[in-house]
Amino acid sequence: MQIAPSLLSADFLHLEDDLRMVNDSADILHLDVMDGSFVPNISFGFAVLDQLSKVVTVPMDAHLMVVEPQRWFERIAADGIGMCSFHYEAARENTGEYIDRIHALGMKAGVVINPDIPVEVLYDYIGKADFLLLMSVFAGFGGQSFIPESVGRVKALKAEIVRRGADTLIEIDGGIGPDNAATVRKAGVDIAVAGSSVFKAEDPKAMVELLRKA
Ligand code: DX5
Ligand code: ZN
Repeated sequence: MQIAPSLLSADFLHLEDDLRMVNDSADILHLDVMDGSFVPNISFGFAVLDQLSKVVTVPMDAHLMVVEPQRWFERIAADGIGMCSFHYEAARENTGEYIDRIHALGMKAGVVINPDIPVEVLYDYIGKADFLLLMSVFAGFGGQSFIPESVGRVKALKAEIVRRGADTLIEIDGGIGPDNAATVRKAGVDIAVAGSSVFKAEDPKAMVELLRKA
């Protein structure tokens, strides 16, 4: 399982140190972009994103928790970010079109849903999106507890991906740590986002390693 530490939980007063830790230990850097409208929180924007490629050597994954995500695809691509996901709840009938727009910009495209959206809405994008992101907490804040029902949702999505013979990856985001990493991997997760479990660990590198081998 690939591990994607979430920048949201990093130490913004010493960001470069945390980015180097991610370079040295992790597979992907996960970037939570929040606008205060789609979610009741604001994280960071292009003042931060524009700088990251100077230091970050692992692939970057922008998780757009914003209304009208399509307004930002070009700037995300220009920042050297290779994976871009947006919420189905923000895109609805435009989801297929947005996937195409992200692909046209040379990025991998992901579709995200919150825990209260039926997992079946993602089935239309199997084989079209490169990855499907199941939130295992409600988007908006780091440090929330994993919602156990997420495991069944992963299993259902994985079964449908296998049934269709597709290579679409499953990402999970929210409350992932040593207690549930093996469970979600066995259920079919390919990429696990981990914010507080990694950055609040005494030894973040060792925690990434532990989660990856779970
Ligand atoms: C929540 C974000 C997550 C968050 C994960 O809205 O999408 O990526 O940073 O943080 P933890 O791992 O602490 O739940
Ligand atoms: Zn996220």
